[in-house]
Amino acid sequence: MTAADFTDRQKLPRHIAIIMDGNGRWARAHGMKRIFGHREGVRAVRECAEVCAELHIPYLTLYAFSAENWSRPREEVNALMRLLVDTVTAEMDTFKRNNIRLNAFGALDELPVFCRKGLSNAMKETIHHTGLTLNLALSYSARNELVHVVRTLAERVQTGVLKTEEIDAEQIAASTYTAGMPDPELMIRTSGEKRISNFLLWQLAYAELYFTPVLWPDFNKEHLYQAISDYLTRERRFGKTGEQIQKI
Ligand code: FPP
Repeated sequence: MTAADFTDRQKLPRHIAIIMDGNGRWARAHGMKRIFGHREGVRAVRECAEVCAELHIPYLTLYAFSAENWSRPREEVNALMRLLVDTVTAEMDTFKRNNIRLNAFGALDELPVFCRKGLSNAMKETIHHTGLTLNLALSYSARNELVHVVRTLAERVQTGVLKTEEIDAEQIAASTYTAGMPDPELMIRTSGEKRISNFLLWQLAYAELYFTPVLWPDFNKEHLYQAISDYLTRERRFGKTGEQIQKI
């Protein structure tokens, strides 16, 4: 498949979210240390960003480091932090060539200083890019994000800028890390695991879920085209009947 096979661009998802899983298992299967799996995973990240840019999909969110990942061996955590910064720096050409804007969200203040600086530099350098927004969820936990949302709204009520009865789904969405972005319409998880694992719990309410046994370092453009094709075959009903949807 190629980008040209997607003729009806209107129907494409505007936001794809991916849980990149299976790096450790890939490394073990190749007789290597876990970090080699993460390093191989960078190629998959580049290919997915390129496909989204080619198809004019405006948002791609990657679960790059969960709040729970801090409990991994220190050596792996340090190597991952270094890899993140090295990647966003080394991929600047990819971002420029494809007009990609880099963004990051999560408990970013928990990241080591060199990592925050590297990310912030890359974000500044790509801020004027108008194509794909590539979101990296880092030190991210959806439950912690919801705590942040509740605190933000509580503070606004306390200071009198918001009334309790004005709190609605729109206000909540506007306080999430993805404020102003459409919710992901397609969520992909690699490596055969079929869980959401504390990823975008609010935003994934209506997402189509796509699970593939392919390990993240093996995931390539073709796999993403397949996932998008599969998404295009789904009937998205949002609680309505199939007949109601067909009339629209
Ligand atoms: C999950 O696989 C993957 C991660 C925790 C890290 C993902 C990070 C990368 C691919 C580096 C990407 C860089 C950028 C810039 C986004 P796992 O280690 O949980 O695999 P396992 O379940 O097989 O052990």
